[in-house]
Amino acid sequence: MELRSIVEPLVLAELFLKPLPLEVELGCGDASFLVEFARQHPGRNFIGVERLLGRLQKLDRKGRRAGLANLRGIRIESSYFLRYLLPPNSASALHIYFPDPWPKKKHRRHRLINESFPALARAALAPGGVVYLRTDDTDYFQQMTEVFAASSELQKMETPQELAGIVTDFERDFNSKGIHTLRAAYRSL
Ligand SMILES: C[S@@+](CC[C@H](N)C(=O)[O-])C[C@H]1O[C@@H](n2cnc3c(N)ncnc32)[C@H](O)[C@@H]1O
Repeated sequence: MELRSIVEPLVLAELFLKPLPLEVELGCGDASFLVEFARQHPGRNFIGVERLLGRLQKLDRKGRRAGLANLRGIRIESSYFLRYLLPPNSASALHIYFPDPWPKKKHRRHRLINESFPALARAALAPGGVVYLRTDDTDYFQQMTEVFAASSELQKMETPQELAGIVTDFERDFNSKGIHTLRAAYRSL
């Protein structure tokens, strides 16, 4: 999808045929999760954000094959998208599944979920909107838990089973290797 500007917030009415609740996946990868979830929820609009072109092309191909009018992909850096392009209070959900863990200590500053993230997410979410997280990295999960616990404007909740049941590409791979994965969800108050 071509953006009219990458310095002004998106005009959602230009991207989608219908004004429906918006959900965003940051770092959507090959987008199996997003395509399946968008197929199951024609009453919602979805944007997949991904920095790798080849992966975004897969989203595009899968979405077209499934005839989805409610799915768009944008090739851009996730935190830039969240900070500058996603209109304030516009998203009913942010899905962040298996973000790069940056396991080396000196690289941890590259992690998407850091102490600034809850405020950014809160600004992007509509009232009652939810951040859904999954990771296989226990250290990163602890960091996620700590930064969200420090935010009084987001409250921990259970991930609904119908959502947890739709696995992502990386999750399928972890499951097949017997690697344990973790998940959490936080609702904007
Ligand atoms: C480990 S993969 C997980 C993909 C997918 N969520 C899944 O669970 O199958 C992380 C994905 O995030 C993308 N990514 C990493 N950092 C990013 C960033 N800062 N902005 C946008 N995409 C990013 C990577 O290219 C990769 O496709």
